[in-house]
Amino acid sequence: MTVHQAVAIPDSEYVRLETILTNSIVPPAPLKQRFRALFTLKSVKSNRAVDIIARGFADPSVLLRHELAYVLGQMKNPHAIPILNNVLATLSEDPMVRHEAAEALGAIGQESSLEILEKYRTLEQESSRVVRETVELAIERIQYELTKAKTPPGNTDCDNNGGYTSIDPAPALEFAAKTESDVAHIKAMSTKEVGAVLMDVSLPLFQRYKAMFALRNRGDKEAVLELAKGFADDSALFRHEIAYVFGQMQHEASVPSLITTLENETEDTMVRHEAAEALGSIATPECFAVLEKYKGEGVPQVVKESCLIGLDMAEFEVSGEFQYAEKIETVV
Ligand SMILES: [Fe+2]
Ligand SMILES: [Fe+2]
Repeated sequence: MTVHQAVAIPDSEYVRLETILTNSIVPPAPLKQRFRALFTLKSVKSNRAVDIIARGFADPSVLLRHELAYVLGQMKNPHAIPILNNVLATLSEDPMVRHEAAEALGAIGQESSLEILEKYRTLEQESSRVVRETVELAIERIQYELTKAKTPPGNTDCDNNGGYTSIDPAPALEFAAKTESDVAHIKAMSTKEVGAVLMDVSLPLFQRYKAMFALRNRGDKEAVLELAKGFADDSALFRHEIAYVFGQMQHEASVPSLITTLENETEDTMVRHEAAEALGSIATPECFAVLEKYKGEGVPQVVKESCLIGLDMAEFEVSGEFQYAEKIETVV
């Protein structure tokens, strides 16, 4: 398991980042600057950074709150667990935010989180399918990590995911293989065959996610086209993850399906949000154009804000800057 390693930054930097993130400056910082402050805190990884991020949950923006939960999971600092438990347990919170809290608990990967996750897997008052499916995945992920920890070191690392730096909700097929012959078998599978696993609704979601990340790691146009079929799935959670993976792959072949998704007014806003941000990270001229089109009035708040963030991500992509974050001083 990857251990979080904090970066030392001066006190004044913590104060500055907190001021930006929690919007306590006049005039308020634009959302894009607050996102960049959040990503800086993510790279700092300390308990103090976690505590500052936790204060952001009072913000009215669903988009920001869901991103706070996502970042807390990616930091992999167990100090965030009680904060995430609280978000998951708040039934009045937006499902997109609660989903991200459950996924973050899975990413941190502590056995002690199984109890609360199990509770929301079976809770009768749990009306959100997105939350229930996320909880199921988070349980599977933790159990996977636990069994892996008991076996001798192999090629099973959930955090070692084909060069991508994210902590994913499931390991790619090839990393989850238990024996050398399984590894050889998966490598020999055609992209179409991996795509068939992705779309096999008789399989548990965790298994289909493994195929999703295997396709991401293959990374070519054929893999993109197999993944795009996932937008026809009836799970909004599954569709939003396809869009997320497209954002990571930054492959132009995914742009048409992402634009269709963003423009589809009957699509779940969580999926449209993820499509907008993926378009932002691909950053071709047509990505800029569609994000411009949906950043204004008459668009659901979370989609509109995602377009604004997507535009900022796209500007970052074309700027050649080193890191999507606020610049900070570190203590040496
Ligand atoms: Fe998500
Ligand atoms: Fe998201």
